[in-house]
Amino acid sequence: MNRQFDKATLNKRTVNDITGGRRMRRNRKAGWVRDLTRENTLTIHDLIWPIFIIPGTGQREPIEAMPGVFRVSADLAAHEAERAAKLGIPAIATFPKIELDLRDQTGSNILVADNIINRATIAIKAAVPEIGVITDVALDPFTDHGHDGILRDGVIVNDETVSQIAQAAVLQAEAGADIIAPSDMMDGRIGAIREALDGNGFSDVGIMSYATKFASSFYGPYREAIGTQGLLQGDKRTYYIDPANSDEAVRDAAMDVEEGADMLLIKPGLPYLDIILRLKDTFAMPTFAYQVSGEYAMIKAAAQNGWIDGEQVMLESLLAFKRAGCDGIMTYFAPEAAALLNQD
Ligand code: PBG
Repeated sequence: MNRQFDKATLNKRTVNDITGGRRMRRNRKAGWVRDLTRENTLTIHDLIWPIFIIPGTGQREPIEAMPGVFRVSADLAAHEAERAAKLGIPAIATFPKIELDLRDQTGSNILVADNIINRATIAIKAAVPEIGVITDVALDPFTDHGHDGILRDGVIVNDETVSQIAQAAVLQAEAGADIIAPSDMMDGRIGAIREALDGNGFSDVGIMSYATKFASSFYGPYREAIGTQGLLQGDKRTYYIDPANSDEAVRDAAMDVEEGADMLLIKPGLPYLDIILRLKDTFAMPTFAYQVSGEYAMIKAAAQNGWIDGEQVMLESLLAFKRAGCDGIMTYFAPEAAALLNQD
């Protein structure tokens, strides 16, 4: 049937009748009013830049699945830190790719005081003392099986791992790390690291807890970056959180807060915005997201194909973290985003 709409149909009830005179579009009608009513803003001070460290000097290697991201030796990491500081980025986070022959069952190289991660911290702090350095104490870059803990008879042993990472945290603090950010998800690690730091005169070194780290498939490119891809036996589901769970994430974060975490981190980022919102509302702690390698790779790949506007999608994704309640974002986009934000 060919339906005829006469004008009178709409005029029986006007849009003002329908909305009660409310017009959401009044506050959207021009740039100045959108600027005036905007609720969240991304600034350079929200950014933490993760960088990958390799042995040697003058070394710089691309990472295939992370276009624009490089592994660098400690001396070049110091240059990167200088660049970050000039851009106004408050902190960097370091992740090592160590030689395969230094990796073993227990990740013992993490207890070597001048391993590459600590050497990078020393080099960065010597060059740019004012930038924050955040180090990870997970064992995965150091083990020959790619797990974040010590593997015995097919089991990641919790308590032995905790005592080792607490010792490693002290060495990292000694090298100059400002914040220890354990990403291993062992039980009791926050309290143990706090005790070890305090007991060794590092009570001003903070702990950013990876409070809720999910057993995610978004970490793929990172595993290429640190060379654990071919090594990892099985998966990490006996210690990372099931992506289906939200209450469990709150309970896990509650333990970390109680044990003395100074800040909470949620990882991955965009697929877990609901967790960010819940944790921020529940604990009112400084809250951060890690926009992980797979998230970065997806945006870069689509942008390189011309399927999305890479810069706009990057900024929109970072702003989404702020809206969800984040105080800041750990992101491989940090220098690119900072350069853009500096233009404004
Ligand atoms: C493990 C660790 C992971 C990442 C950083 N540290 C996850 C993993 O390999 O299981 C992922 C970061 C990223 O994907 O960008 N301690």
